[in-house]
Amino acid sequence: MRPTILILGGTTEAAELAKHLASLPLRVITSLAGRTRDPARLHGEVRSGGFGGAEGLARYIEAEGISIVVDATHPYAMRISPNAARAAELAGRPIIRLERPAWRKTEGDDWQEVTSLEEAVKAIPPGARVLLALGRQHIAVFAGRSDVHFVVRMIDPPEAPLDLTSHELVLARPGKAEDEEAFLKERRITHIVCRNSGGTASYAKLEAARKLKIPVILIARPPQNFANAVGDVKAVLAFIAAQAGLRTA
Ligand SMILES: NC(=O)c1ccc[n+]([C@@H]2O[C@H](COP(=O)([O-])OP(=O)(O)OC[C@H]3O[C@@H](n4cnc5c(N)ncnc54)[C@H](OP(=O)(O)O)[C@@H]3O)[C@@H](O)[C@H]2O)c1
Repeated sequence: MRPTILILGGTTEAAELAKHLASLPLRVITSLAGRTRDPARLHGEVRSGGFGGAEGLARYIEAEGISIVVDATHPYAMRISPNAARAAELAGRPIIRLERPAWRKTEGDDWQEVTSLEEAVKAIPPGARVLLALGRQHIAVFAGRSDVHFVVRMIDPPEAPLDLTSHELVLARPGKAEDEEAFLKERRITHIVCRNSGGTASYAKLEAARKLKIPVILIARPPQNFANAVGDVKAVLAFIAAQAGLRTA
């Protein structure tokens, strides 16, 4: 029987991994939380929605005969990773964590690193024009800053109107560095608030900020402990090949 791989996904790395695994003699299931309205097509099988905590996930692992669990969820997804580690332990299956490396400050970056959204709120100076590059569930905490103009950029529209005194909403994906530069200039942005997501898709705004000397208030990743963590898809493929006894090129 083909080994079955469960990818806990919702990230570009998870999609990339599913694509690579599609050519191997494996059954591949990607699990999504089900929050994105129109998720991109993925290789292999896809399931959607929560499992009901670590115990629920352990039951799913048993029921589907999962051989290896890959936790490729987002660095800021706080609950699913500990649940996955516990579930794999309960079910007695190997687990590997795939986490894209965090961005590192480089010459010319003006970054203020904070550890929470609340700290980010306090770090904004009065009268600033801020690009809030955060998901819709992270905006409400900025409501008290009526002295600040927010440009809120997100991919999916918020379910309810944003509770910010002075703001504009831009529904768009991040662009290339030159597009980001134009965007920051056009809207006279003085500060950016974002998270240290890592990867290339949303790094362009930080390159543009460096060029325009715009300060960035960067919300650090939550600390998590992973017994078996790697930073790229290649390392996961090697782990799966070794565990499943596959020969790879
Ligand atoms: N947090 C972010 O900023 C962010 C950004 C981009 C993508 N994502 C992706 O969006 C998903 C949800 O993020 P979140 O921050 O809400 O996560 P979370 O707080 O860690 O998870 C909350 C609950 O959602 C369910 N869940 C999360 N990821 C799941 C998955 N891949 N498959 C099935 N159920 C899942 C679990 O429910 P049960 O306990 O019922 O199993 C989990 O306890 C994650 O898969 C993550 O990779 C998150």
